[in-house]
Parts: sequence; C-alpha cells; structure tokens
Amino acid sequence: MRLRGKVAIITGAASGIGQGVATRFAAEGCAVFILDLNEESGKQTQDAIRAKGGDATFQYADVSRPDHWSEVVAKVLERQGRIDILHNNAARIIYGKNVLQTSEDDWDDELATTLKGVFLGCKAVLPSMVAQGSGSIINTSSTAGISGVPRFAAYSAAKGGVIQLTRSVAVDFGRSGIRANAICPGIIETPAIRPLLDDEEYSAATRSRLMLNRIGQPDDIASAAVFLGSDESGFVTGAVIVVDGGRTVAY
Ligand SMILES: NC(=O)c1ccc[n+]([C@@H]2O[C@H](COP(=O)([O-])OP(=O)(O)OC[C@H]3O[C@@H](n4cnc5c(N)ncnc54)[C@H](O)[C@@H]3O)[C@@H](O)[C@H]2O)c1
Repeated sequence: MRLRGKVAIITGAASGIGQGVATRFAAEGCAVFILDLNEESGKQTQDAIRAKGGDATFQYADVSRPDHWSEVVAKVLERQGRIDILHNNAARIIYGKNVLQTSEDDWDDELATTLKGVFLGCKAVLPSMVAQGSGSIINTSSTAGISGVPRFAAYSAAKGGVIQLTRSVAVDFGRSGIRANAICPGIIETPAIRPLLDDEEYSAATRSRLMLNRIGQPDDIASAAVFLGSDESGFVTGAVIVVDGGRTVAY
C-alpha cells in the first residue's frame, strides 16, 4: 500500500501502459481517475479495478481539450478534495514517417495530444497542488524522446518536448512542493505497438537491441510510476528515468 490515501489522475488509462499504471496504483491504495477517449475500455478498466476492491472512476476526456481538463479537475476536487499525482500518459503515436512524409496535419495532431495534452494537464492540476503544497507529476516520454528513431519524426519531437516540459515544471514548482519526472519506456507490449511488433524487419532490429532479452510489459512501467508517485521518491525531481531493457545503451 505504497500509495495509500493518495488521489491520482492517469491519462490514456483505458489501454496499455496507462491501464497497467492505474491497476497498480489502485492495488497500492490510491484512488484513480482513468481519463481516456475510449469509453468502453475505460469503463472495463474501472470495473476490473473495482472488482478487486480498488477505487477507480472512468472519466471521458480528450487531453488536448482545456475545457475537458477543467471539468475533470473540478470533479476530482469535488469528490476527493485533492490531487496528489498526475500521470500524463496519453499520446498519439504517429510512426512510419520521416519529416518529408509528415504532413502538417500529422504534426499538429501529434503535438496536440502528445505535447500540448501534457502541458494542459500540468496547467490544470498545478493550482490545486500548489495550494496543498505537494504533488507528483509523472510524464510518459519515450526512448524516442532521447534518441533518434527512424521515421518517428513528429512523435520524437513531441516526446523530446515532454522531457523539457517536465524539467520546466520541476524547476518552476519544486519550491512549492511539487515534483515532476519523466519516464522513457522502451518497447512495451501494448495494443499501440502490436503492428510494429508484427513487422518482421522492425521486430528483428528491435529484439537484437534488447539487453534483457525480452519486450517490456506495462507493469515494468507501472513499477517506475509507483516509485515516482510515492513518497519513496521524495528527493527525485526533474529526472528522466529510462525503462527500456537496455535498448538505448546498446551499441
Ligand atoms: N508501448 C510502447 O512501446 C511505448 C514506448 C514508449 C513510449 N510509450 C508511451 O506510453 C504511453 C502509452 O502508450 P501505450 O503503448 O500504452 O498506448 P495505447 O494505445 O495502448 O494506450 C494509449 C491510450 O491513450 C488514449 N488516448 C489517445 N489519445 C488521447 C487523448 N487525446 N485523450 C485521452 N486519451 C487518449 C487511447 O485511447 C489509449 O487508450 C504513450 O505516451 C506512448 O507514447 C509507449
């Protein structure tokens, strides 16, 4: 129960990594608000957590919409009176495109969710975190945010931006008691990357660089998120934690 009594908002929690984080957070005693565009899967995630005795609430929200953020924050504060953890995890994953292949619409779509969505989330929760004098913001970046990945142009740019935004929040709000950290997952088995893993060339290249001989699981990222959300990481802020099975250190 490392998150006992805490209240968390987790975006993109109807699937993959976010779903894994919401499930672990709830098991650690945290009340979780599951934000997602996918109502069916969001409600299923909520119900599965409740069936195990956890406290979960699904809320439809598009992270690129400031009005949705206002509604969510008002609802969480009305119900729980505080927000301890925000995990900005939702992203639009546009891949298979270099700069020449990326249209302006692709670029705008990618940044609207993956970078602006994180900015809007921080902006929405920070006033209540500052007022309570504490809070942990966890942003999901990617190994694509720290190294060059072929044909992920817009996504990589957005994820690099997430890291710098995380550092900005860490330095601007640390003295108000707020910590902000980023997690860079490597290859994690989720619905989002299933088509990539099914691509023989990509899959072979990826697997050859996995130093721990396996693809990651959502729970691998949830373990890092539990640490960053809990008081165990009380002296950790502005950090970029790579959880990639050694992929980015492999030559
Ligand atoms: N899976 C990987 O290998 C991997 C690697 C590095 C980084 N990541 C990052 O991890 C995070 C989660 O990815 P995943 O693999 O679990 O993907 P996923 O597709 O399984 O889950 C993403 C969820 O985000 C939701 N979402 C998308 N746009 C949204 C929006 N505008 N508002 C609200 N919800 C929205 C989707 O409905 C979906 O439920 C993303 O930030 C992704 O970039 C994943």
